[in-house]
Amino acid sequence: MQRIIIVSNRLPINISIFNGQINVEPSVGGLATGMSSVHKFYETVWIGWPGLDFDTLDFTLLDDINRKLEENNCIPVYLNENEMENYYFGFSNKTIWPLYHYFTQYVEYEDVFWHAYVDVNKRFAEKVLDFIKDDDIIWVHDYHLQLLPKMIKDARPDMLIGFFLHIPFPSFELFRSLPWRREIIEGMLGADLLGFHTYDYERHFISSVRRLLGYDINLNQISFENRIVKVDSFPMGIDYERYNKAATKLKDKHEKDKTQMAKEIESLIALIPDIKLILSIDRLDYTKGIANRLRAYEYFLEQFPQFHKKVTLIMLCVPSRSNVEQYQAMKSEVDELVGRINGKYASINWTPVLYFYRSLPFESLIELYTYSDIALITPIRDGMNLVAKEYLATRINGRGVLILSEMAGAAKEMGEAITINPNNYGEIADALNAAILMPDKEQEERIAVLQNRLSRYNIEKWTKDFLSSLTNTIVARNRYATKKLVADEELKMLNAYSKAKKRILFLDYDGTLVGFQKKPELASPDEELYQLLDQLAMKKDTEVVLISGRDKETFTEWFAKKNYSLITEHGVWIKEPRSDWDLVEKVNNEWKELIRPLIEFYVDRTPGSFVEEKNFSLVWHFRKCDPDLGNLRAIELKDELTSLIANRNIEILEGNKVIEIKNSGINKGRAASKKITGEDYDFILGIGDDWTDEYLFNELPGAAFTIKVGMVNTLARYNLESFNDVRKLLRKLTEIDV
Ligand code: UDP
Ligand code: G6P
Repeated sequence: MQRIIIVSNRLPINISIFNGQINVEPSVGGLATGMSSVHKFYETVWIGWPGLDFDTLDFTLLDDINRKLEENNCIPVYLNENEMENYYFGFSNKTIWPLYHYFTQYVEYEDVFWHAYVDVNKRFAEKVLDFIKDDDIIWVHDYHLQLLPKMIKDARPDMLIGFFLHIPFPSFELFRSLPWRREIIEGMLGADLLGFHTYDYERHFISSVRRLLGYDINLNQISFENRIVKVDSFPMGIDYERYNKAATKLKDKHEKDKTQMAKEIESLIALIPDIKLILSIDRLDYTKGIANRLRAYEYFLEQFPQFHKKVTLIMLCVPSRSNVEQYQAMKSEVDELVGRINGKYASINWTPVLYFYRSLPFESLIELYTYSDIALITPIRDGMNLVAKEYLATRINGRGVLILSEMAGAAKEMGEAITINPNNYGEIADALNAAILMPDKEQEERIAVLQNRLSRYNIEKWTKDFLSSLTNTIVARNRYATKKLVADEELKMLNAYSKAKKRILFLDYDGTLVGFQKKPELASPDEELYQLLDQLAMKKDTEVVLISGRDKETFTEWFAKKNYSLITEHGVWIKEPRSDWDLVEKVNNEWKELIRPLIEFYVDRTPGSFVEEKNFSLVWHFRKCDPDLGNLRAIELKDELTSLIANRNIEILEGNKVIEIKNSGINKGRAASKKITGEDYDFILGIGDDWTDEYLFNELPGAAFTIKVGMVNTLARYNLESFNDVRKLLRKLTEIDV
């Protein structure tokens, strides 16, 4: 089995030194708890920060610390004070964390943070590169290490690298405000597979890639630097069995074995037997909506006085990132709110809010979960929220109610929870009322469905899904790698060219001989291209055919006097050197009147798009539009066209950012085939970049050399990356003496 190298900022264990003693504790947070299960069940090594400040470390303890880390299969990356300040508290938690959670008012852009972030990512990269063996799988986690995938890939292109983001990925409108947005995206794209908790985060990421960098994206596959990067959503699960079993064990525990926490909760219940315990557990973080929750709870007590002395909110807040100003301010706010509510409503034998500001061991967490009737989870934004899932796994009697913010990633999978808007106190108060009054049967029905889902898509399944999807990217990688026109294959082609007695070259124009321009009229041939084509066409027994979807007027302007054959409008017209245009296909135009109003309607609704009218086709161009809107409208337009063209002899052709409607049966393949039929060409080359060129690749004989520009799936024999590579190849042909 392959070894998995987990890389994250925080290791699953946190080391602290107290009175010269080394303390080892499990780390808090979804990443650490979730991935710890993976760490236990797979052959893994975990590289990360053990939570210490290296500058103040007593070095006599270093050997012992390293030994303890080694026992846990952990490799440390130590951070000094400056790195903690600028990389961890700074760029990670004062720039990325608030930005990705839509707290723009807290975002700080500081060059010094950014530089520290780059440097620490480099140190992680060095550590990983030093440590890995050839067939390891590298799995990088979370927002602290977004540059790491590219740093590793640049040094070791052969390694398989996965990246998972445990927090939301924000919408493009937000992400674009980051000064280092390009570096971040490119850093992440160093991975072979990028995973997000939800489809929304995935979609936001893809949209940022498309809008910022304009890379080719085919569904969820991004073509980037000669590689395919796959993007997908994998909602993280929990170790369901572990929580479920722990809760069962607790129920069967003898009185004498019970912990202090369990005994105290039981005596609270004994005092008020029909009390409903409401639980919330979070790191003390402004994204978790803790203050909102308290205000909503206060509002609930105001609105529903019948529940006084009948409910208690047990609120566990785990200290987190307390060096960051907003976290300190939040702590004061929460302290104040708890004080205010208890001051207002408490009686001698009833405390409305029981507030704990510390972390608890697993056993105590299970006790809190198990004794609680309602979980109240109200983040303002949360990547996933595992606490919600853990609470459900402990419902061993099938009862309990989960109230969950619709802003948590987990809400996407939990239709049976009571979902609330965390900013709507009235809604939260009503949800609490409904939860308290919910009949047992309804609770059981909802819990059963939720548990069923959670137990199936548990952490093991999540890991397997991610890893198998990652391993499958190799298949795609190999497919393109073997198709790439490598030196050996190129040599074969050049030899065949040089030996041949009669040659023909079919060359598409846009995207193949020139790069794409926002306006098609700007993509006119440059001097270098004219020279290249002229030199090829001058060769003995060599025919150059430009075969394009363009209209014949444009090609007349650009190439009429040239010594090449021209095929336009996908094969409607042909022009041989020194002759006039000939209509190859018998076509009619009557359908245009029917289709034109529809396309014009789309032009009006889609800024940046326009219609081009060719002699025998209509083309809707959307290259200049907002990419998401353009793609969306293209789907709608195709849909409407499909019903409109039924039973007519016309078809829809999808090119690169264009939709073309034309008479059916006309395509580049058919035109090329007519051109070569009855002739004895012994060297045929076909090069093209878009979907319409697939017809050409399909029709040319098997011995032909066919090349697709772009590293995507194709019927062609080979792939080349860009039009520049095509020009290089053509230049080599001109240098052969024939
Ligand atoms: N947790 C913990 N100790 C505590 C309180 C919570 O280990 O005292 C764990 C909890 O069981 C859960 C994780 O911390 O697995 C919190 O993950 P979640 O996804 O809910 O939020 P995050 O902290 O990652 O934002
Ligand atoms: C979230 C993040 C984790 C992080 C955890 C705890 O779950 O996604 O990457 O480890 O919070 O935060 P901390 O700053 O203490 O590591």
